[in-house]
Amino acid sequence: VIKIKNKYKYKYALIQYPKKQSISYKILNEYFKIMNFNCEYFDLSLSKDIFERYIAKILNKSEGLNITVPYKEKIIDYIDPDQDVKNIKACNLVYKNKGYNTDWIGFYETIKDFDFKDKNILILGAGGAAKAIIYALYKKGIKNIDLINRTYSNSCILKEDMKQFIDINTYKKEKINEIILKNNFLINCTSVGMYDQRFEFNYNLLSKYSFIYDIVYKDTELIKYANNKKINNKNGFDMWKNQAIENLKIWKIYDNKFEGVIKCLKT
Ligand code: ATR
Repeated sequence: VIKIKNKYKYKYALIQYPKKQSISYKILNEYFKIMNFNCEYFDLSLSKDIFERYIAKILNKSEGLNITVPYKEKIIDYIDPDQDVKNIKACNLVYKNKGYNTDWIGFYETIKDFDFKDKNILILGAGGAAKAIIYALYKKGIKNIDLINRTYSNSCILKEDMKQFIDINTYKKEKINEIILKNNFLINCTSVGMYDQRFEFNYNLLSKYSFIYDIVYKDTELIKYANNKKINNKNGFDMWKNQAIENLKIWKIYDNKFEGVIKCLKT
């Protein structure tokens, strides 16, 4: 049974399942403390049954929610989605029962000044994060991309979901070497690297790449490879930070002290 403590005036929570490592929990609670906000950020891990039984109540009791795997699509049945949520068919933020997607904004903010001329983009992954990133690429004016995912059928679903925005060429994973060599800008949208796993392909196939982006928020094997080879690269920390700022703005509790909290916890 979920009990949200009544002593907190405003209620914020992350909804996920199963419970995974989250930087939001630590950073947001630190921010609330520093700001003297009378509130706490909860980390709620809800199995499917519990989600269905309690989500209406949680929505009713809370001021703001973050939604992550596996509920970003399911939550849409319970809230009022904005146009981006309708387009992406995924919602990662709720404020007073309105649904937003700030994942794509977090990524977009990090690439909005990039020049993609002569860049051929290869995306790895076809989950919720890949969808938000592809939507951001569409907003940046990218017309087509190549995509490989472990499970080919998931690539096909994503291609269909995004077809009105961007042209996605999907390939089976057996073709990975050939497809890596035909592109020069990699965006890893899988969770490979989060728990120190690495991809099976030979990283040296990427030696001529002009950019390697890994959306995992810390330096993964892929990013370490890029650093070693002096290839321009980025991990997912700034993407996370930008979406967190956007979330706080939507929740109307943003203050630029937040950036200080992040710097403190990072060092
Ligand atoms: P998120 O919202 O973070 O994208 P998700 O929707 O569960 O989470 O998607 C995770 C992505 O990482 C998927 O593309 C998944 O591939 P599958 O579609 O085959 O499941 C990919 N992924 C996760 N673990 C992986 C691994 N060990 N190797 C390759 N791909 C992996």
